[in-house]
Amino acid sequence: MAEVRLKAISKSFGPVVAVKQADITFQEGSFTTLLGPSGCGKTTLLRMIAGLEKPTSGDIEIAGQRINDVPIHKRNLGLVFQNYALFPHKTIAQNIGFGLNYRGVPLADAQQKVIQALEIVRLPGVEDRYPSQLSGGQQQRIALARAIVIEPDVLLLDEPLSALDANLREEMRVELKNIQRQIGITTVFVTHDQSEALALSDKVVVMSAGNIEQTGAPQEVYRQPKSTFVARFLGNANILTGSVVSAGTKSAKVEVDGLGTVTVTQTGFAKGAAVQLVMRAENLQLHTGKPPAGKAATNRFAGTVTTVDYQGQLARYFVSAGPHELEVISTIDGSLLSEGTPVTVTINGSDMVVLDAPAQ
Ligand SMILES: Nc1ncnc2c1ncn2[C@@H]1O[C@H](COP(=O)(O)OP(=O)(O)O)[C@@H](O)[C@H]1O
Ligand SMILES: [Mg+2]
Repeated sequence: MAEVRLKAISKSFGPVVAVKQADITFQEGSFTTLLGPSGCGKTTLLRMIAGLEKPTSGDIEIAGQRINDVPIHKRNLGLVFQNYALFPHKTIAQNIGFGLNYRGVPLADAQQKVIQALEIVRLPGVEDRYPSQLSGGQQQRIALARAIVIEPDVLLLDEPLSALDANLREEMRVELKNIQRQIGITTVFVTHDQSEALALSDKVVVMSAGNIEQTGAPQEVYRQPKSTFVARFLGNANILTGSVVSAGTKSAKVEVDGLGTVTVTQTGFAKGAAVQLVMRAENLQLHTGKPPAGKAATNRFAGTVTTVDYQGQLARYFVSAGPHELEVISTIDGSLLSEGTPVTVTINGSDMVVLDAPAQ
């Protein structure tokens, strides 16, 4: 177990800057996720920690030691990649024991460790089988067992669940979290899947085009996005432009382009400032009759349901309101609204996030 620190790490491939000046601390024993769209530099960051890629500039420290020049086999790391690449002609025990053998661990100890690792990933008794005799999910657990059996300081996981089908992926992610808690290992997990990141992580690092957009606990990055990129990437957000018409100490009024004035509880804006307003789809409520009184009722817009996307427990509606098409996610209590229904849309002032509009 160890803390990992990246200090102003950059990596260029010719003209492509894959990672720009990244500063990240992966705390000892924590589960951190690098989250972002394809091509944003997640794998490159992970490969630099692993020693598979050399940083163009910056330092990498593990447990306080600069390791830039330490070769991969001397960094005590467990690695799992999307294509878990087990040796097909070796048994499961030989696959898991490979790294132990390489490190010169005596056979009897190695056998014991292999059995323990199989217990941790909840696949006891498969030592003598071959990879082809296991399912995809089981093979992925073997890959995990192979990574943890060497008792690494850090576990590096690059989209380890993405080759699995949806149900298995959700099952495995719960198990992965349990295993990580059980062995308490510093873990860096790479994914482009926001729900995986939110479900698994102590800390999420949101990346875009080689930059770190935001770092924080899952609820923090979800509820307080610092940019429209983060708001859009995590969940379903409506982003509207507007300007601050009055700013008090407890609330501010924002004129939303095409919709009218809303009151937000966020403060610290100058009167007249151009802003962007983030309204999460699940924070918008639809009312067909008279909307209820109360705080939410101060922020209301008239609209019409244009599209209904039924999802079982939830419905995703698109509602035209002024020049906007608002996305609304509602739990279904009672009947589904149909297309063409006139509605009143409401939102709580504390459920909106106000961001500075980008400089023109
Ligand atoms: N070996 C390489 N040579 C050239 N460009 C690369 C190499 N590896 C990655 N890149 C580029 O660096 C950027 C980041 O890639 P990557 O780290 O794989 O992103 P992610 O894992 O987030 O999808 C991309 O533009 C990719 O094309
Ligand atoms: Mg990748």
